[in-house]
Amino acid sequence: MPSVNFQSADGAVTTIEIEIGNSVMRGARDNSVDGIDADCGGVCACATCHVYVAPDWIDRVGPAGTDESEMLDCVNDPRPNSRLSCQIAMSQELEGLTLILPESQR
Ligand code: FES
Repeated sequence: MPSVNFQSADGAVTTIEIEIGNSVMRGARDNSVDGIDADCGGVCACATCHVYVAPDWIDRVGPAGTDESEMLDCVNDPRPNSRLSCQIAMSQELEGLTLILPESQR
């Protein structure tokens, strides 16, 4: 399974494996990654799964969709590299993906 690195606001990195086709949020929840509450269960309605995509990965992960962009307007400190992790589907191409957890989700 491909792996994903979650970097917390204090710099600590947690690496987990996520099954292809699963959302990154689901993988984070299944592995108890701190900072991903995912209150809505992955239906793009809470924004508590907000992450920043590391600069090297932005092109491969791609931009947020319309509904996701509207939800991202609700987060603290949205940035151009903001995504909702429930809307990122794991694929082999994302092996080694690095995501940064927002300070507000400690
Ligand atoms: S889990 Fe609610 S928006 Fe992602």
